[in-house]
Amino acid sequence: MSFQIPRGTVDLMPGEVEKWQYIEEKARELCRRYNFSEIRTPLFEQTELFQRGVGETTDIVSKEMYTFMDRGGRSLTLRPEGTAGVVRSFVEKKIYGEPQPTKWYYIGQMYRYERPQAGRQRQFHQFGIEAFGAVDPVLDAELVDLGWQFIRSVGVSGVKVALNSVGCSRCRPRYREKLVEYLTPYKEELCKDCHTRLEQNPMRVLDCKKEGCQRVTEDAPRMVNFLCEECAPHFETVKESLDLLGVEWYLDTRLVRGLDYYTQTAFEYILEGQGGHAGSLGGGGRYNGLVQEVGGPEMPGVGFALGLERVLLALESRGVDLPLASGVDCFIVSLGDAAKKRSVLLLKELRQMGSTAERDYLDRKMKGQLKAADRASARYVAIVGENELEKNQVVVKEMATGEQNTIQLDKLATYIREACGKGQS
Ligand code: HAM
Repeated sequence: MSFQIPRGTVDLMPGEVEKWQYIEEKARELCRRYNFSEIRTPLFEQTELFQRGVGETTDIVSKEMYTFMDRGGRSLTLRPEGTAGVVRSFVEKKIYGEPQPTKWYYIGQMYRYERPQAGRQRQFHQFGIEAFGAVDPVLDAELVDLGWQFIRSVGVSGVKVALNSVGCSRCRPRYREKLVEYLTPYKEELCKDCHTRLEQNPMRVLDCKKEGCQRVTEDAPRMVNFLCEECAPHFETVKESLDLLGVEWYLDTRLVRGLDYYTQTAFEYILEGQGGHAGSLGGGGRYNGLVQEVGGPEMPGVGFALGLERVLLALESRGVDLPLASGVDCFIVSLGDAAKKRSVLLLKELRQMGSTAERDYLDRKMKGQLKAADRASARYVAIVGENELEKNQVVVKEMATGEQNTIQLDKLATYIREACGKGQS
């Protein structure tokens, strides 16, 4: 019997995982600066949370969820996205009763049963942000900027923000009516999925990527022309603030997003020159009704999530090499039993002083140990033989230059730390 990794999932192997650590650290650092705190919610939630939160008619809920019964007969679902769980926690813990806003971020696995292809997996990772308790449109713009800064800070260039307003429960019904009125005569030209959308969620027809549907919707009425007296100025301020912050954005009046909870601001980070789903690195928007939908009081929210696989793909397609630290600072080569014993202590000292250090564990000869040092990409090799040990000395060789120095054994850890520019630990 041979086992295989489940379809649509990947092992993040050493060599690759360092890139993940790098971009995750960039995300965390940025969140610290914007004063967002991390929240970690469960990988699974009650199925109904997503049905209510994300919406029954969305592709995510109707086609893509990993739903199962647990041994107690409860229906649970692996989270297809992060917002619903975060909102559940916000409501359940009554965080809404505390002074607002609440600013949270998360990094973690999400699950959607989709057809795997480049940039689309069944288990994938999102870096997401959620801010509750403020209707201020400048906050929307600041969040858009945060995501944009993140993308740029890891080295992805040529990303623009597609922006729209999807209105609210006051202005949307009138627009919906006009849209259905416009689309109905063209029904036969729409794809099969759009027939259902036309009945259940007509705004999603605007988002359909099929050529025929795009042709039909080209001159369809636009939500931005139907915004109410609250949504219109909100949208104006979002746009002004984005300009103020220097974010490169454009109006995309077809942008409706695939989740039901959005109100007012909706946006996506689009990678120029990359068509299809892989070109959308992430997206988000406002969700002023979601907290209530999940059982809390009326409380606004806004957020976004970026797909980390897609960010890494974008880095690859742009040919960006991340500045990753690799290799160990010092590899100890020891010859003879006494030297080997001493090298164990030396290693501990090196590591305690904050250096990365390694040795040979297979009793190799000198040549084999030097090869192992090479494989470990050691910056320095410290050689301890019987002679050196007698004199309490060690030979330190810098691999890049071949330069050699003999130093006192008890000075090795300090020497390496200084040579590698490491601070006091
Ligand atoms: P979403 O647009 O469904 O939004 O997903 C956000 C991002 O997750 C996508 O743009 C994409 O980069 C990534 N993503 C989605 N599905 C996959 C997949 N199968 N494989 C790889 N990457 C994928 C949300 O999830 C909302 N919760 C965002 C949000 C947060 N809105 C407000 N707050």
